[in-house]
Amino acid sequence: MPIQSAYELLNRSLIFFQGKPVGTAAACDQSVVAANYNECFVRDFVPSALVFLMNGQHQIVRNFLETVMHFSGHQHVLKGHKRSMGLMPASFHVVEEEGEEKVITDFGDRAIGRVTPVDSAMWWMILLRAYVVATDDRAFSESDEVQKCISNILDLYLRERFESSPTLLVPDAAFMIDRRMAVYGYPLEIQALYYGMLMAARELLIHNENNQKIIGDLEALSNALLSHLQNYYWVDRQRFNEMHRYEAEQFGRDVVNVLNVYPESIPGWMDGWLDARSGYLVGNVGPGRIDFRFFAQGNLLSILFGITTAAQSQSIMNLYLHHWDELIGEMPMKILYPAMVGEKWRFSTGSDPKNVPYSYHNGGNWPVLIWPFVTAAVRIGRLELAEQALSIMTDRLKNDNWPEYYDGRRGDLIGRRANFFQIWSATGLIIAHEVLENPESRALLDKVLINAEVDG
Ligand code: GLC
Repeated sequence: MPIQSAYELLNRSLIFFQGKPVGTAAACDQSVVAANYNECFVRDFVPSALVFLMNGQHQIVRNFLETVMHFSGHQHVLKGHKRSMGLMPASFHVVEEEGEEKVITDFGDRAIGRVTPVDSAMWWMILLRAYVVATDDRAFSESDEVQKCISNILDLYLRERFESSPTLLVPDAAFMIDRRMAVYGYPLEIQALYYGMLMAARELLIHNENNQKIIGDLEALSNALLSHLQNYYWVDRQRFNEMHRYEAEQFGRDVVNVLNVYPESIPGWMDGWLDARSGYLVGNVGPGRIDFRFFAQGNLLSILFGITTAAQSQSIMNLYLHHWDELIGEMPMKILYPAMVGEKWRFSTGSDPKNVPYSYHNGGNWPVLIWPFVTAAVRIGRLELAEQALSIMTDRLKNDNWPEYYDGRRGDLIGRRANFFQIWSATGLIIAHEVLENPESRALLDKVLINAEVDG
């Protein structure tokens, strides 16, 4: 029953342009709290697309890819600068003006806080590859327009600016956490998507003389990115002990504490948090800075995209087991842990009442995260964790009318300002259910998500 009602919700959310389905709305809540939830968000469409691909509804995915590509392919002159051609919108919707349908995009020019959707083009590329793998429609990906679009994206995302590392530097709120949350700099989710995007692009670009340089560049970058994430983001008991004893103020090339992180900056909650079998990728690193918060999406995508080694992937799942109550609780699963409180919350969020401790982005529980969790857990042979997490949520989510997020340390309360009938809460559940129940869907997801050969 819950799955059937999730499908009904998904069908209700379809957005049409010129008679064709081109996307899905973020929510179908009549009493809509936020004005733009009737729009199709690129990141929210990804789980919808995976459901469509599993069910052979390929055309919708292609329509979506074309629509986003088409409407981001215009160079816009903004006040005093030009928007880069490789940037893709956070969301779009269709309006009727003078009897004619128009697609209206949002590149952060309308979004709350004017945040930049750095993740959109990354998800678009990853989805394009997924579509091609599922359908074998190479004619589409090798068309001039698509190849041009891929080049524009790579031109923007591979451009060197001020970086001293292969990671991508982004402003605050550039991805799923699209509000001020001290996630500027080098947030893990962006780095994981960056790697996923580069791997996808390598397969999608036509291997010819013209593309030789760009393919060489992106291969070099993705290798460097991988080892950078392995070296600077990974923390387990042993690594943590090294950090605990770090010497600072080291100068030169061959030093240990490269980022000059003071052990005194390690937050108190880390004391005793890692047992001998657990580990994870930290949320962010920069000069003198390690953000030790655990971000679910970045860690799970890292397992799926083959960023973590087989042993590290197991350690991340061990962390979930070890901290089940905090990270899964009564509604899978926490977007990040722990929440920022007090003065830290005030300074880092700008006193945002939506992001109070253990709510929304600041440690709320997001049902959509069940799909990367279950897919990653099953991929590496941790079936029992996947089943346990899914069983907690299945009936409740439907009975609660598909909330966007839950509040509280244990995620037991429906989010204070959550929308209902949130599409990715429903599609997340469908995917998780399919992966566990249907070997064909499981095999398809293994194929369409990057680095399927990652062993368990
Ligand atoms: C919120 C989320 C964002 C999502 C959007 C639509 O802004 O933070 O990740 O894309 O809602 O669901």
